[in-house]
Order: sequence, then structure tokens, then C-alpha cells
Amino acid sequence: MMLVLGLETSCDETGVALYDTLAGLLSHALYSQVELHAEYGGVVPELASRDHVRKTLPLVDKVLADGGRDAGDIDAIAYTAGPGLAGALMVGASLARGLALGWGIPALGVHHMEGHLLAPMLEAESPHFPFVALLVSGGHTQLVRVDAIGRYRLLGESLDDAAGEAFDKVAKMLGLPYPGGPHIARLAAQGESRDFHFPRPMVNRPGLDFSFSGLKTYALNTIADCRARSASGELGEQDRADIARAFEEAVVDTLVIKCRRALRSEQLNTLVIAGGVSANSNLRASLKEALVQDNASVFYPAPAFCTDNGAMIAYAGAQRLLVGQVDASGVSVRPRWPMEELPPLVVAGEGA
Ligand code: KG4
Ligand code: ZN
Repeated sequence: MMLVLGLETSCDETGVALYDTLAGLLSHALYSQVELHAEYGGVVPELASRDHVRKTLPLVDKVLADGGRDAGDIDAIAYTAGPGLAGALMVGASLARGLALGWGIPALGVHHMEGHLLAPMLEAESPHFPFVALLVSGGHTQLVRVDAIGRYRLLGESLDDAAGEAFDKVAKMLGLPYPGGPHIARLAAQGESRDFHFPRPMVNRPGLDFSFSGLKTYALNTIADCRARSASGELGEQDRADIARAFEEAVVDTLVIKCRRALRSEQLNTLVIAGGVSANSNLRASLKEALVQDNASVFYPAPAFCTDNGAMIAYAGAQRLLVGQVDASGVSVRPRWPMEELPPLVVAGEGA
């Protein structure tokens, strides 16, 4: 049994959680910096770091109180060591190491994308290995074959913008706030795609890579055409909603096509999808429909654990801490960190 405190500070959310390897998730708390960065239209790294400094310890107190535990009950700390913003990562890493030193317990740096990838394991109905995972966040779009924790093979990834990044950029063009994904989704619900048809990038080429930057240009040109056609020179409300809808459909279709292709080529029938974009309800609905035809099933994290959070870091860290993985003392982070470099879990006394 082990009680693990998880800290997530890689970008613009401070996430903290308490995970008990027997009882499961005891408590979690999140502070989102969205409003802080809103006026800049994107995350300002230095402001993000300073806000993590302010928010992390109060959230640690909160999860302890909510979970009904004392600091003395914590057996180990898991924190996000990368990938992410260097300064923001440093805040979490230094706090984690400082607390671990003070409490005389081990700490372990966790890979942020492994956290996302394993978030569906927090659910009552969780996937079994092996499976294909689609990781779709603001910084990554990757298809990964997962044979076990730490046994990852990259099948394909975005050659340019991540899917979430494309959502954010097109949202900005439509005058929507950052981060744009949920705003596009809401606007798209009022639109119809009939007048607009965005391309489905790279689906006619073999392979499992993605490219989303062309959709951005396509959106820009579509908006310009609509403006030129309108009497006021402005984009009409219905056009805005229709463009949002057509864009969302293009991203969703592309992701669905590549997921099915990945399952087929790996001869697997379990798909896991995680990361901020996995909160998108049209993506969920389309995947569900498509995978029923393939006799495959799809697993997601709970909506609160699709975007950045402390629970996924506590969980991923706990799996590794349980088999004795800990970091040497000293604070280091890895703003860039390929997930395939992670070690597999090796239980003491077992061969690799
Ligand atoms: O995983 P995440 O919270 O942070 C990163 O690690 O990047 O993902 C954030 C991304 C943003 O690009 C945001 O626009 C997108 O996830 N996102 C969505 C939705 N909710 C969040 N995209 C589409 N539809 C949504 N409902
Ligand atoms: Zn993330």
C-alpha cells in the first residue's frame, strides 16, 4: 500500500491529487490559470511559473484535508518532470523535491504524456493491455502502441501542429478565447457544415502521421471568402458557427480514420484516447460509432481528467514508485522528452 501525492505544473494548470494504491483516488484539486493568460491569447511562461508558486502548496493542503489524511501519511511524491514549459516544470520539481526531503520520502519525476495515457486507468472500467492510444493535447498528437506501462512504440504523430493547437488557432481566427477547443465545440453545435468542406489532411496517404497546419490556412481563406461575400465585410454569426462545425468535423474525421487504421495495422481492438481534445464530445461520438463497426472498444478518462490534472500524475507515478523507481536527489526537468525513452516496469527479482 502506498499513498502518493501528485503534482502537475507543466503548463497553465496547477493540479494536485492524493492517490492511494489500494483505495484509489482520494482527492484532487485544480487551479486553472486560463483567466490569467486570457488577455494575451496564449500561455505566458513566466506568469505561469509564478502562479504555480502561489497555488501549489495551498492545493496540497486542500487535497490532504479533502482526503482526510495528514502530511505524515504520504509515502511518496510524483511530479511532472516534462515535457512542458521549463520554468513551470521547475516550480513543481523543486516543490516536490523540497517536500520529499523535508518529509524524508522518495520523489519521482513523471512523464506528462504517460500521465495522460494512463488517466483512463483511474476509471472503474479500465482498458487491458495491449492497446492503441491516441494522445491528443495542445502540444501533442500521437498514436502509440502500448504493451505495458513503459512499453511504448510510437506509430505516428503530427508533423506540424497538434490537434489541440489547431483548435486553439482556428478559435482565435473566429474571435474565440483561449484555449479554443471547448469554445469551438460549443459554437460548432449551432452550425452545419453543408456550405463548407475542410480537407482531411493526409488520409489518402498510407501511414499514421498527421498534419493539421493546412487546416489553419484553409480556415483563414474560408473566413476571408465569407467576409468578401458579406455586405458588411464582417463574418456573419451563422457562417462562424458553420466554419467551426466544418473545421471540427475535419479534425474528428481525420482522427477517427487514423485510429481505425492503427488498430487494424496493430491487430488490436482496444483504443484509449486521452489529452485535452479527448474531451470533445463529437470526437467521442464518432469514435464510438466507428469502432462498433470494427468490434473494437474505446476507453476515455473522465472529462475532468482529459485535460491537465494532478490525478493522472499521482496514478502514473504510483505505478512506478510501487516497483521501487525513484529519482536521485537534485532537481532536473526535461522540457522535451520522447515517451519511448521511459523504462518499463521491472518488479524486483524479475528479468527485464
Ligand atoms: O491536455 P491539455 O489540457 O494540455 C496539454 O497538455 O496541452 O490539452 C489542452 C488542449 C487545448 O488545445 C484545448 O483547446 C483542447 O485541449 N481542448 C479541446 C476540448 N477541450 C480542451 N479541444 C476540442 N474540444 C474540446 N472539448
Ligand atoms: Zn496535457
